[in-house]
Amino acid sequence: MATEQLLILIKPDGVRRSLVGNILDKLSQLRMAIIGAKVVKVSRKLAEMHYYQLKNKPFFDELLDYIQGKVYGEPYDRVLAFVYQGEDAIARTRKVIGITNPEEADPLSIRGAYGRITTKGMYENVVHCSSDLLEAEREVKLWFRPQEIIKDVYATKKIVVDKEEKIVWD
Ligand code: CDP
Ligand code: MG
Repeated sequence: MATEQLLILIKPDGVRRSLVGNILDKLSQLRMAIIGAKVVKVSRKLAEMHYYQLKNKPFFDELLDYIQGKVYGEPYDRVLAFVYQGEDAIARTRKVIGITNPEEADPLSIRGAYGRITTKGMYENVVHCSSDLLEAEREVKLWFRPQEIIKDVYATKKIVVDKEEKIVWD
């Protein structure tokens, strides 16, 4: 078994319905380590890049609105993003999370317990989880900078950026 890292998102419906504690509790049974965590207000661009493989699906626009939490608005239009690390982490997490359709997911899984299908047919399934190693690497790199993860998980390089504006504490 190999040590793997993956991206887990608590989607805006999970935030809106105050399920953060319940979801983290169910994930804790896997005894993985959290090596990155933050709250993210998702831009259209980030949403598009995250779900680029689904861009030809009829529900793509709605999916972008969903992951941005547009229907919920302030202060729920955000996701919690985590990088977890553990042995065989991806397959084990997918199992605990359940399959995509919340009505068909194991009722004891996170999606089976808390997800729903909207009247428009959108699967509001409260969490996202990378589905394989390649997707995990792409997604972790998309959502996190190297300095935001407390372990070296992928190769990095140093670059010098001229005239870069930075916001620092006053
Ligand atoms: O999230 P997962 O990897 O299980 O499924 P996906 O096929 O990558 O789809 C991404 C997300 O699109 C799902 O988690 C659902 O929120 C949504 N979706 C949907 O609403 N209806 C579908 N028929 C398929 C996906
Ligand atoms: Mg997927």
